This record gives sequence, C-alpha cells and structure tokens, in this order.
Amino acid sequence: KRVGVLISGRGSNLQALLDAAGEPDCPFEIVLVLSNKPDVQGLARAAAAGVATAVVPHRDFADRESFERAVTETLETAQVDLVCQAGFMRVVTGWFVARWHNRLLNIHPSLLPAFPGLDTHSRALAAGVKLHGCSVHLVRETVDEGPILGQAAVPVLPDDDAESLAARVLQAEHRLYPTCLKLYAAGRIRLQGETARADSAAEP
Ligand code: GRF
Repeated sequence: KRVGVLISGRGSNLQALLDAAGEPDCPFEIVLVLSNKPDVQGLARAAAAGVATAVVPHRDFADRESFERAVTETLETAQVDLVCQAGFMRVVTGWFVARWHNRLLNIHPSLLPAFPGLDTHSRALAAGVKLHGCSVHLVRETVDEGPILGQAAVPVLPDDDAESLAARVLQAEHRLYPTCLKLYAAGRIRLQGETARADSAAEP
C-alpha cells in the first residue's frame, strides 16, 4: 500500500514509519510526506529517507475545505492509498474524512476514549491514572473518535511529570503506529461497524 504521511513538526512518528517501511516484507511504502508548515524537522527526515515531500500551508487557503482539497490533490498525484496523520496539528473537516473514509489514520497520545484533545499527559497525571498510553484509530468527524486499530499502555510512575510521561508514551507510539499500519495495510484488521478487529492470527 502507498502511504502519505501528514505532519506539522518534529516527525518522530514519521521516522518510526519510515524505518518500518524499510524492513523486509513491509506491506506499505511511504510515498509522500506532506506538511502544513515549511522547514519542519519531519521534512528533513523524509528527504534523508529519499521520500518525496510537499508543503501545503493552511494559511494560503480561505477555509479548511479548500486547504483539504489542495492536500487531497497532492495526495492523489502521488497515488496514495492510505493517509497517516502523525503529529499533524490541523483538525480535518467532514469533507476530508469522507474523501478518505476508512483510509485516514491518526495516532493520539492517550488510551482513548480517555483524554481526547490536547495536554493528555498533564491531564492523565491530574486524574491519577496508573496506566496511560497511545491509540491508533481511523479518523472520524469528531476529533479523536473513530475505530481503534491498536493501543499501547505504559505505567504512570510516582515521580512522573508531564515530560517524563510524554517521553514514555512517545516510545510506545513509535512501536504502535508501525505495527498498526502494517496490519491495516495488509488487510488484517476488519471493520464491523465502528469496531475494528484484528484477525486472530494478526498478533502485533
Ligand atoms: C505525538 O505525541 C503524537 O501522539 C501527537 O503529537 C506528537 C507528534 O510527535 N499527535 P511527532 O511529530 O511524531 O514527533
């Protein structure tokens, strides 16, 4: 499967996907990295991996949908099959969700449905949860909702602050996203309504 990755910054999840794409028998290839911001580290990571890049500045467009149409045109030119948001800091509209229905993935740094939205690590600490983590899901119109393709849990330790907890979750993200994308790209996760189920043999 041809994958396009949408980023806005550092791109450490992108790097994990690029590394996985280089492994033997990987069922996906990253064919385009698209950022809504110029000169971000993720673009340098893509270039270093020999992957095509594009910048589509959201500020250049009058509204969200026209930005999304430009992003879609760029993805279509690259003949992308699946779109992965990885640290992409733009909320997409129902138009984009419908255009890429069940072909648009996102990673969120919490165990959804807990802690949708921003600042998930400080909120997890404030809530006193003992387990935190990350979720890969199909994107739906409501932010951070949608069928969950996979999750990874990490312990919250007594001396954690938001920074140490975020770092632990990020390491889990870098394992989870490639695992989920491999399963999904290989058709080994099935959708039953709004519930995703991995084939029994599909152990991450
Ligand atoms: C990650 O924590 C991800 O869960 C969230 O934003 C961060 C992106 O980091 N969406 P990076 O750009 O992949 O390094």
